[in-house]
Amino acid sequence: MRDILIIANLKMNMVHRRDVVSYCDRVRAAMATAPDLKKGVRLVICPSAPHFDVVQRLAHVEPRIALGAQDVFWERRGSYTGQLSPVTLADSGVRYALVGHSEQRTYGHVSDEEIGKKVAALILAEITPVIFVGETEYERAAGRIKDALTSHMRAIMQHVRAEDIARCVFVYEPVWAIGATTLPTPEELMSARILLQKIIADTYGATVAHMVQFLYGGSVTPQNAAMFTPDLGIEGVVLGRAGTQAPSFVQVAATIAHQHRT
Ligand code: PGA
Repeated sequence: MRDILIIANLKMNMVHRRDVVSYCDRVRAAMATAPDLKKGVRLVICPSAPHFDVVQRLAHVEPRIALGAQDVFWERRGSYTGQLSPVTLADSGVRYALVGHSEQRTYGHVSDEEIGKKVAALILAEITPVIFVGETEYERAAGRIKDALTSHMRAIMQHVRAEDIARCVFVYEPVWAIGATTLPTPEELMSARILLQKIIADTYGATVAHMVQFLYGGSVTPQNAAMFTPDLGIEGVVLGRAGTQAPSFVQVAATIAHQHRT
């Protein structure tokens, strides 16, 4: 069985190096007292790029921790002011990179096609792409979840080769659940995961679609983490707010790891 993934997206919340250092210290201390984290789970921390080295130091001493990036550019080098090359990420020890987070879509105006190109670039650099898709509140209210997910996925998948799709991680993250208090029900979660898997199967075949790892993101907390039972087919979560608090991050990881072991 592969590791479940618990990803802390720190966004732009820790602006000082000293805050990231103290966060990493507290994550390490919390992990030392959490027996459920011994195996079967990986904790990915995605800081701002100038703080990669802080997380990388923790990853060196704590094998369950991996370094993640919050974004990447699709070209490997050249005149692209302000962009981050996948080669630079790999060189800095990055193992996972988030692409297509709704805040990137909103503030960075990144399109599904560009997300697809980022995925291809990450695979070439041997970094695991963590791809976000999810419907808006408006699409949900209009009963258009299926259409929204299908159109995101089709556009992204155009850039991903059949032999690479199983190396991608997909996050179902409804936009209305980010920074909110409500999550989809377990039934809604399972049906979104089945739909995403079917969209992948329609393009690449069922065998490969069953190899893809699916996560959930949006308003996950230590209080609701127990709902992520293995039968949902969701093998991990992405945390925004809860991920910035070391004890909550580790507690969510321990709760979900425990669910997947029992
Ligand atoms: P949240 O954010 O956990 O604070 O809802 C999730 C995300 O933005 O990925």
